[in-house]
Amino acid sequence: MTVLHLAGTYRRSVAASVARIRENVLDWEHLPALHASSFAACELVNEDSDGWRVRLVNAGSDAPQVLKLVMAPDTSGYRVVTEAGFGTGSEIRVSVTPRAAHQTDVVVDYHVPETDPDRLAMIGAAFVAIYERLWDEDEAMMVAREAALAPRPRAPTRVDLGPEAALQLPLAFDLGSGRFQLVRHDNALLAHSLNCPHWLGPLDGAVDGDGNVTCPWHGYRFNICTGRSADGRGLRLGPPPRISIENGRVIAQLASAQ
Ligand code: FES
Ligand SMILES: [Fe+2]
Repeated sequence: MTVLHLAGTYRRSVAASVARIRENVLDWEHLPALHASSFAACELVNEDSDGWRVRLVNAGSDAPQVLKLVMAPDTSGYRVVTEAGFGTGSEIRVSVTPRAAHQTDVVVDYHVPETDPDRLAMIGAAFVAIYERLWDEDEAMMVAREAALAPRPRAPTRVDLGPEAALQLPLAFDLGSGRFQLVRHDNALLAHSLNCPHWLGPLDGAVDGDGNVTCPWHGYRFNICTGRSADGRGLRLGPPPRISIENGRVIAQLASAQ
């Protein structure tokens, strides 16, 4: 049996609930999208309610690792074992302790099949640096998702966005129960929902020449002209408001209020 040794420990207090952390850890699909600087691709091998096994390709590599996640049913901890590829046999062991409704402490230990103290220290330092960045990205997503899930006061169903000549695009605005963004595409003004219909990720990135916008959380793509998925997933953006020009001013109005 391979003997593992502790290479490094990363500790963090995360501004998110245990529920958000469980959801995030089980969500293998965000790895190559949210953590694009760390991971190039991720493919599910199998999954159940407490974990997954994925084939993960690190950024700058073309050799996949096979990783297996097992989470405790009560979310008090989880393990990620490298079953194949670079670092085979190493194991990440995480403890998860709730501190407040939206505050959770995590302690991440990295155990590797290595005995040399210098190599262990080097591996541990690299691990801590990588995990700092991963948790920065995860925490930002979890905080934004929590905010997107929270009830919002209902805004008016018609809003004056100002003089067309003075527009600063893209322009975000609230209308009814939704949040939208006004953009210019193909020389026309149009608005699209800022909330991804998958997990409510922010669709505030650049719109490409075909009118497609990519969600930063899982990489799903949508066409803002049709509102439909641009990647064959069959999702739909929330209905956009009608945009009109009245006396030189840009007016957004919900279809139901017209
Ligand atoms: S929230 Fe998952 S792709 Fe947008
Ligand atoms: Fe993550």
